[in-house]
Formats: sequence, C-alpha cells, structure tokens
Amino acid sequence: MSKKSRVLTGITTSGTPHLGNYAGAIRPAIMASRQENVDAFFFMADYHALIKCDDPARVARSRLEIAATWLAAGLDSNRVTFYRQSDIPEIPELSWILTCLTPKGLMNRAHAYKASVDQNEAKGVEPDDGVNMGLFSYPILMAADILMFNAHKVPVGRDQIQHLEMARDIAQRFNHQYGAGRDYFVLPEVHIEENVATLPGLDGRKMSKSYNNTIPLFEGGAKELKVAIARIQTDSLLPGEAKDPDSSHLFTLYSAFASAEQTAAFRQQLLDGLGWGEAKKALTALLENELAPMRERYNDLMGKPDQIEEILQEGAKKARREATPFIQEIRQAIGLRNVQAVAPAVAAPAKKSGKAARFVSFRDEQGLFRFRLLAATGQELLLSIPFDNPKEAGLASKRLQNENIIDLVNKTGHDHSFEIHLDGQLVASGFAAASEAEQDGNIRLLADSIESMKAE
Ligand code: TRP
Repeated sequence: MSKKSRVLTGITTSGTPHLGNYAGAIRPAIMASRQENVDAFFFMADYHALIKCDDPARVARSRLEIAATWLAAGLDSNRVTFYRQSDIPEIPELSWILTCLTPKGLMNRAHAYKASVDQNEAKGVEPDDGVNMGLFSYPILMAADILMFNAHKVPVGRDQIQHLEMARDIAQRFNHQYGAGRDYFVLPEVHIEENVATLPGLDGRKMSKSYNNTIPLFEGGAKELKVAIARIQTDSLLPGEAKDPDSSHLFTLYSAFASAEQTAAFRQQLLDGLGWGEAKKALTALLENELAPMRERYNDLMGKPDQIEEILQEGAKKARREATPFIQEIRQAIGLRNVQAVAPAVAAPAKKSGKAARFVSFRDEQGLFRFRLLAATGQELLLSIPFDNPKEAGLASKRLQNENIIDLVNKTGHDHSFEIHLDGQLVASGFAAASEAEQDGNIRLLADSIESMKAE
C-alpha cells in the first residue's frame, strides 16, 4: 500500500463564498479528498481573517457560511479533518516559535506587504501606514498552519506560491537549527491546479470580492444567481451574428461547469449566432443544475448551526490529536522542557532505581547509523556522528561506556558545547549551553551517566 499523501488547505473567513471560491478552491479540494491515497486537512483560516477584517459580526458570519459551504459542497467530515484554525491553540504557539527564527528581511519581501508599502508610497504617506503586524507576519502564521500537520501538498491559487516558498524556507531553518539530525518538519509543496482556470468575474477580470465582480454561490438563491448572470458583460453582437467563444468570458464560465460535450455544443451555438440573452439562460440552467441541490443543503445547514459547531468541534479534536503531541516535541527541541530535564548535574548522582541512562541507536534521514546518549531523566547528552553500519556505531558506544569519558571530552568554546574524540576522531557531540557553568554541568552529567551505566 502506498503511503497517504497529506493535502492541506485553508480559506480565510472574511467574506461570503462566491462562485470563484467554489470552482477554484472548494470543488477541486473536495474532489482530491475523495481519492484513496489522500489524507485531507481543510480548515477555516479565521485568525488570518482578523488581519483584514475588524468587524466581529462579519468574521463570525463568514466562519459559519464557509463551514456550511464546504459541507454543502460535499465535504465528508468523517474522511477529512475539517476544523477552524482558532480551535487549535498549537497553531499560534508554533507561529510564535517560527516567528523567532524567521528573518525580518524575509517578511519584508512578502508580496502582500510590499503591495501595501507601494500603495502607501504612491499616496505619499508613511510606507507602513495602515499595516498591522498581522499583515506583516501573515506568511509565518500560514507556515504554522501547514507545518503543524506536516502537509505534503498545499493546493492554493497562484498568489500564494510565495507563501509556500516561505513556509519551506522556515521549515528548513527549524530543521537545521534544532533538528540535531531529525527533520521535524516536512517541506510542503505548492500545488497549483492547472486545469482549474481562474474563474473570470462579470467584467472578465479574475472573479474577486475586491473587484466587485462576483457571482454569488448560494446567497440570494436562484434569483440572485440569475440577476448576476444578467450583468455579465458581453460584446454588442446581435442574435444571428457569429460570436467568438474564445474572447467571451461567459463562455469561459460556462466551460468551467460543463462537460466536454456540453462545452463543444455551446461553442458551436455561439459560432452559429446564439443571442447573448439565450446564452445567459443556458449558463443559468447549467449552474442551477449543479448548485441547486447544494444550495438546499446549504440553507438547511445554515438553519442548524449546532450541527455545524459539533462537526467543527469533532474536527478540532481530531486535528489536536496530532498537534498536541507534536508541539510537545517541538517544545523539547527548542528547550522549553520540564525543569527536571535540566536539573544541574550535581543534583543527579547515579541512581539505582528508576530509569537508567542509556544509549539509543537510530537511523538518520540519510539512512546512516547514529546513537544518542540519554540521561536517566531523558535529557539528551550526546549525539553521535553518522556511521556507515550499525556495528561501527555499536563499537563506538561500547567504548564510550568503557573508557574514562572525561579524558575523551574536548570543550568547544564558541557555543559552550563539547565533543567526544576516540583515537583523535570525532565520534559524538554534546549540546550548546548558555554558559561555561552550564557546560561543566552537562559534562558532569555525562560522566555521572556513564558511571551509572558501568555500575549496572
Ligand atoms: N492565505 C490563504 C489565502 O488567502 C489562506 C490560508 C491560510 C491557507 N493558511 C493557509 C491556504 C494554509 C493554504 C494553507 O488563500
């Protein structure tokens, strides 16, 4: 059986979903989630909504509408992990941790931030006028969304490609800085759905709330759908005159919802002089056919917010089953540990009872053989170099246990760490400490741990 690929995407809850959101994001995501080898995580990015929306009623309403839209469109919450970002406290926690290792310069280059600065400069005001820290750090929160669940693939629009690159960059920095041979984070890949053309709006530009050219998805029912379609801009050719399908965004809209045969037939009708009024009727009928049953489910769900809340609470539980233990590992990695794990060595004489100090061998990313030495408390004392085979690794750890370890220690000055050499060769390293005193403490703990193992 092939390993499941984790696909994760989110929608910012700052408005009412329109036809473009459905065709460009929701529909393809749901289709992907139905594949056997896909493990899908879909969520409402409601912390992201706060960056551009300070109207609490709108944020609240949008969360409900977007949740109902996903469900009405066919998302199966038993299959997909479906949740609200703000129900997962581990996400903002991770976001802060990542914030502390993200260079400010990286964020200076983010398109969304740069666009605001450019606009301000054009207006002749302060470059950062109206820019909040949420906007500036937006890509870090997005990286946390993705890295928290180690997503492999993130389907998004083209405008998000840079954010994915930043998420990879940040993941790499973390792995490098804290990984000590382990890749905590998967490097996510952006997934651009090539055959999902960006849906044009009423005026032919990309359908977007900011252009005020959207076609509503469910809001306003069949009536508003018809009203919006009537407003689609066309050329002024009369019925009977041949229309050019390829320069008509009405045709593009039609083909986004039609089968290949329907599209070919519609193309021919336009070439044969179908009037725009008739063409709009055909588009309305086509959309109604796909949307009407969903709209019914949507209206039904909107009337049962309790049911939606329950689904989302379940989803949050499911997501946190992963996030909670994972953030614990991250906390360990960065040094937010139990105090027992850093108790000074003097207070940790070799104990006879309880867990003992031990060597733990493992294979690293490259498939090479390494070992760690753990103190009785579980604190990591040493990480070995990679060995080509387990025997060599085993021999090295044996020797560390049998020789006088203190003689093998070489302190490193710059980071208050130390190295262990055998026959002049580096075999293992300790960990950086904040001060020389702490460094000495670590070395003492190492010696005590080895002593306790000898005594076993
Ligand atoms: N920034 C995305 C957008 O505006 C929404 C989003 C937030 C997202 N977090 C994410 C998308 C994580 C994918 C993965 O479209």
